[in-house]
Amino acid sequence: MNKSVELRYGDKTYSYPVIEGSEAEKAIDIGKLRAQTGLVTFDPGYGNTGSCKSAITFIDGEKGILRYRGYPIDELAEKSSFLEVCQLLITGELPPPKALDAFRADVTRHTMLHEDMKKFFEAMPKGAHPMPVLASSVSALAAFYEQPETDDDIRTAVVRLLAKMPTLAAWAYKHSIGQPFIYPRNDLDYASNLLHMMYATPCESYRIDPVVARAIDVLLILHADHEQNCSTSTVRLVGSSRAHLYASISAGISALWGPLHGGANQEVIEMLDAIAAEGGGAERFLARAKDKNDTTRLMGFGHRVYKSYDPRASILKRTCKDVISRLGTSSELLDIAMKLEEITLKDDYFISRKLYPNVDFYSGVIYKALGIPTDMFTVMFALGRLPGWIAQWIEMRQDKETRIGRPRQIYTGATERHLRR
Ligand code: CMC
Repeated sequence: MNKSVELRYGDKTYSYPVIEGSEAEKAIDIGKLRAQTGLVTFDPGYGNTGSCKSAITFIDGEKGILRYRGYPIDELAEKSSFLEVCQLLITGELPPPKALDAFRADVTRHTMLHEDMKKFFEAMPKGAHPMPVLASSVSALAAFYEQPETDDDIRTAVVRLLAKMPTLAAWAYKHSIGQPFIYPRNDLDYASNLLHMMYATPCESYRIDPVVARAIDVLLILHADHEQNCSTSTVRLVGSSRAHLYASISAGISALWGPLHGGANQEVIEMLDAIAAEGGGAERFLARAKDKNDTTRLMGFGHRVYKSYDPRASILKRTCKDVISRLGTSSELLDIAMKLEEITLKDDYFISRKLYPNVDFYSGVIYKALGIPTDMFTVMFALGRLPGWIAQWIEMRQDKETRIGRPRQIYTGATERHLRR
């Protein structure tokens, strides 16, 4: 097959190479386009733009495939732990048992925050949403730790961030409900420690249910990376200016908060609650979501990349049923969610646009069943996505092709004019 693409413009023909990835994904390399023709490409939302080469995550949106470093997501969710997945994403390989133990010990040892960070949380308004508090607390960490430059520095900075994020998240939550901060416990695993810091109080310890802890671990694995989505591209873009790792991650957390991205999990529960309050009939919501003159969307549905069922959503649907039955609870919201899914899968509007449940559709129902407060849903997403952001930041720094991110534009404003004074 021809490995180049020809472009005719004016009376000239230009040739651009086609590059190919390891899964046969192809792209036109237009690196010389502007210099040769004076043209730039116009691609709002970057739907057709490959911004980098990456060896971390592969998605086939048509077939519903998601793999981290080659490993299918369902195998990782079933057979690995979140810290193993962190190592896999960041180093490229699953760690041998001894290396995993050493990494786990390292992450456990760095969970405490500098005592001065308490003042940071105390300065935030009471009742603040934990997402902006988390984003700014991660940014504030850059004031405590210098920009890592060498490989060793980067490794330490990564361990610190992975270790401290659950503490920052739990403290953001504790502050939002006006309770004292709870210190990490080194005898607990990653997910259990998070639950302890969120739910224990100085008056009462929190009994960690292994079913809940494992479900949290699986949720973190499912969210760990998703190639060049909005928040990850933000992390890369900010990092491309050589900004501090923690500043880049903080920007990613802010990008994730939006309701069209990670904030959708909170919106899904609010939507399901509203449907429940109306007696369980979803017709009004569906009609609004399908109405061209209404900006309402069915939250938790649709995806830029997946044009079939999001593989994370099918794992979460199973996990959701499992968790709810093992905890011996019932969930009206799960019933509504499944009914809603059933209706949409038969509805022409959703079928013709290939809109299926995405990762956020069932994750909110699980978080709710596990007792995670609604305001913390997107924080849980951020905790899961952290190793992906880190891996992408490191890959971006090591890639010799990386240049500072700087898109062009098509200017549509006023042409030159002058002050009439
Ligand atoms: N409800 C109703 N209609 C929808 C929805 C939805 N959730 N999503 C897309 N559409 C329609 C949209 O109106 C458009 O219709 P038409 O062709 O008639 O104009 C068509 O489907 C294509 O939509 P789009 O906006 O061009 O698609 P996009 O790739 O730009 O947006 C999306 C992707 C995820 C932002 C969008 O599907 C959406 O807003 N979904 C709801 C929010 C949500 O669940 N976000 C979480 C995404 S998964 C987690 C993550 O990775 O962040």
